[in-house]
Amino acid sequence: MRAAVCRRYGPPDVVEIVEIPKPTPADDEVLVKVCATTVTSGDWRLRTASVPPGFGIVVRLAFGIFKPRKAVLGTELAGEVEAVGTAVNGFKVGDKVFAFCGLSLGCHAEYRSIREDAAIALMPSNLTFEEAAPLSFGGTTALYFLRDQARVRPGERVLINGAPGGVGSAAVQLARHFGAEVTGVCSAANAQMVRSLGANDVVDYAREDFTQTGKTFDVILDTVGNCSFATCRTALAPEGRLLLVVASLGQTISARVRPSRSGRKVLAGVARGRAEDLRLLAELAESGAFKPVIDGTYPLDRIVDAHAHVETHHKKGNVVVSLR
Ligand SMILES: NC(=O)c1ccc[n+]([C@@H]2O[C@H](COP(=O)([O-])OP(=O)(O)OC[C@H]3O[C@@H](n4cnc5c(N)ncnc54)[C@H](OP(=O)(O)O)[C@@H]3O)[C@@H](O)[C@H]2O)c1
Repeated sequence: MRAAVCRRYGPPDVVEIVEIPKPTPADDEVLVKVCATTVTSGDWRLRTASVPPGFGIVVRLAFGIFKPRKAVLGTELAGEVEAVGTAVNGFKVGDKVFAFCGLSLGCHAEYRSIREDAAIALMPSNLTFEEAAPLSFGGTTALYFLRDQARVRPGERVLINGAPGGVGSAAVQLARHFGAEVTGVCSAANAQMVRSLGANDVVDYAREDFTQTGKTFDVILDTVGNCSFATCRTALAPEGRLLLVVASLGQTISARVRPSRSGRKVLAGVARGRAEDLRLLAELAESGAFKPVIDGTYPLDRIVDAHAHVETHHKKGNVVVSLR
């Protein structure tokens, strides 16, 4: 089968399309013929070994000291079940599914085998493969931080820093779904797009610093990496929660050992994808409450261009790779 492999850390053109063996599903696995996948900020991090301060050595130990240990990147996919292992009960040949493989990677290939009890679910009936592939990276991250960590309640004021991105565009929609009043921080060029996702207000970061407006928020979710408790303190309401989607090692440890400061909380961590979350995201997609934003779709042969676009850090939502 064809796959995009990354055999050394480096710029987008370290990625090449090669033939590798097609996987054979184990007894408890389904073999998915991948119809669409995405290149995410996570793939950029793993291709370049660029991580927030303090995590460098941790990531190299986990993912490869000198080169990526898992050469096939790709955290999420949508496709069709081509074969099932003998012990699989929940899926059958022909099912249209989407899956979040997260840091197990391996989605930038024509086939991926996945355990049936992993983060895999039936696709929402109203989305194409290209629309379903990007459901999980941003969606599960937004659920983890907004629902599980901050426990956002109806009527709360939620600010999303980096609102147009893969995580931000999902967070705006899901915060609105939870009944929050949402402010999105983005460039002027993306203000209309962020409003169309449901944001009640937008802040253009080139003209205004959201921490200096005098407004306060119950929840601030930072996907950019330029927030800290010190900079956001005055913008956090009493009992406000600062969610650091991008956090240095120091911030992550500090959030664990000293989460609460003057009634306000700092929360950091790594989102986990679970099948039940994927099923919820599929339901929300079917009801129209959540639809992944797609910046562009590239054929597998042009995955290097997709990586280059992701590396600008100004993509709108998601960059999709179609294998159909
Ligand atoms: N902790 C976790 O579990 C977890 C999970 C997923 C992702 N992440 C991390 O989350 C980060 C964001 O991921 P992503 O996929 O959403 O990235 P992305 O799609 O590249 O989005 C970044 C967004 O930030 C906006 N932006 C750039 N500079 C800004 C600034 N100064 N102020 C406000 N907004 C700004 C951009 O919008 P404009 O074009 O309008 O500037 C862009 O849309 C990545 O670092 C990723 O590694 C963490």
